[in-house]
Amino acid sequence: MADNLKILVVDDEPIVIKSCVAVLKAEGYNIEGTLSGKDAILKMEQNPYDLVFTDLKMPEVDGITLIRWIKQKRPDTGIVIITGYPSQDTIKDALELGIIDYVPKPFTPAVLLDVTQRAVEWVKGKVPVTEEVKEEFPPSMIQEIDRVIKQYKNKPGSSIPVLQRCQQIVGYLPPVVQKRIARGLNITPAEIHSIVTFYSFFTMKPRGDHNIRICLGTACYVKRVEEVLNKIKEDLKLEVGEVTSDKKFSLETVRCLGACGLAPVMVIDDETYGAMSPKKVPEIIEQYK
Ligand code: FES
Repeated sequence: MADNLKILVVDDEPIVIKSCVAVLKAEGYNIEGTLSGKDAILKMEQNPYDLVFTDLKMPEVDGITLIRWIKQKRPDTGIVIITGYPSQDTIKDALELGIIDYVPKPFTPAVLLDVTQRAVEWVKGKVPVTEEVKEEFPPSMIQEIDRVIKQYKNKPGSSIPVLQRCQQIVGYLPPVVQKRIARGLNITPAEIHSIVTFYSFFTMKPRGDHNIRICLGTACYVKRVEEVLNKIKEDLKLEVGEVTSDKKFSLETVRCLGACGLAPVMVIDDETYGAMSPKKVPEIIEQYK
């Protein structure tokens, strides 16, 4: 169920706007589109938007310029980039500016919905978090987190290794842990959050003993990966982002597992299962019980 947030999609390809509007409107989102960065600024000067999805390559006002404008004039607006083949530098620039996530082009409806849901959660949770990490985790865990932060403090490029170590310690990266890391490394919580949501190996939710990842990328989607996903949900009584009641399994969706030739693809822990079908699900899952 969509929240009543206002979303603006900015892309110079009309088909991208059309697809985003069709997919998100059908889910009840309040969405509008525009074909240029310049028009997006005009619209935002008149009306605030909660979320902006923007292309990076556009004539006149490009995506990075638009993101800079939003950060300065509408800092409460969440930003997601829509991008084809971004260079590492472009992604780095966008991450440093505090984007929430990205949608790869071409994208499937499932991917767009997945990113939108997470971006909406971010927008709803952007109110400063007041709870402290000590309320949720044992003191030994907090000491260990602080030790890692201290070890990497003031070292360039320390965010990713600190997040990796903290995820090993806690098992996942909830907002309170992200906030503690941001404060310890003296960077903004938005920057840490962008990194956590950008890389699929980070998770904000606890995982079960065995983590099942289902690829919703284009190659897997056209080979009906949704049927595999539905079979897993049904057999394990498990929704995406949740853990089974016995804590044995967790379920995640990702955008590409880098094994498109094997589509549709499922990964359990470090094991890859290609050419998946709903029929194969029970036998594979049984091995992990
Ligand atoms: S799209 Fe599924 S592995 Fe690449």
